[in-house]
Amino acid sequence: MSWNILITCEPFVQSGADAMRRLRDAGCELVTAPKFGPLTAEELTPLLNSAHAVVADLDHFTADVIRAAPKLKLIARWGVGCDAIDLDAANDRGVMVANTPGVLEETVADMTFALLLGATRGLATGHESMRAGDWSRTWGTGVHGRTLGLIGCGRIGTAVARRAKAFNLRVIAHDLAPRDEAKELGVEFYDLNSVLAESDFLSLHAALTPQTRDMLNAEAFGRMKPGAILINTARGGLVDEAALVSALNDGRIGGAALDAYVVEPLPAEHPLRTARNVLLTPHVASFTRDTGEAMGRLAADNILAALRGDRPPHLVNQPRVAK
Ligand code: DGY
Repeated sequence: MSWNILITCEPFVQSGADAMRRLRDAGCELVTAPKFGPLTAEELTPLLNSAHAVVADLDHFTADVIRAAPKLKLIARWGVGCDAIDLDAANDRGVMVANTPGVLEETVADMTFALLLGATRGLATGHESMRAGDWSRTWGTGVHGRTLGLIGCGRIGTAVARRAKAFNLRVIAHDLAPRDEAKELGVEFYDLNSVLAESDFLSLHAALTPQTRDMLNAEAFGRMKPGAILINTARGGLVDEAALVSALNDGRIGGAALDAYVVEPLPAEHPLRTARNVLLTPHVASFTRDTGEAMGRLAADNILAALRGDRPPHLVNQPRVAK
């Protein structure tokens, strides 16, 4: 049987030539969405009439979307986060959900450090001044010898901690299940409020769940060190963005370097774009060619396994009925 594969994920198309060739060679029909994701539920639903699998961006696979997809067997995320997918609905409908772990953690950790260094040393403002023909020098914040706090210290957080140790940073973290590797690196684990209070730089690496949504709210910003810098390469929904804009513009915190937003693409008029001391990038933490290719390879592995009737190697849910 041949499968129709809907592709909503632009970076998969840009970096996944080999993966797409493997899918076509296996007899799959690849259909690129008329608009790339993240797609809303309304945009996604009509595209799913004949799709057996989707190579998915951070599209909103709500319960209604999943129920309205008559042939859907697999949502193959290009990425690790599955927070935009209603996994219970997928389980109920027998829809498999798979992701691409193990190939992007180091790349995201590199980007976290790029943002940390960029924000502390004013790279964006220096660059803008040079582009404008000026020679405007701003004072930075030293990195070495300070304290980096991690909210969430799984694979990506641990990779960040490894880099931080080489920069002679003290690393503290809040995580409900501390990993041995992080402890061996010397990461100190504390409750959330202690990490908020002690961090000079606070980097988010937690999954977005109902419990973690908006965890960085006005109260949390109030607990942070004055002048602290927030880095977010995880999910925008971890942060109450209105509270962040106030904390930045009031000078309550020193700055923020952000790669993830509640609504993506970040609307052109969003107040974060003009907030004080921000460094903003468009959700590119995993965007290196080699990592993109590796993610595409894993997405194709997941689809090809499902097509053969096997369990996808990176299945994340437990579908109750086979479809
Ligand atoms: C992920 O891995 O979930 C990234 O956000 C890319 O989609």
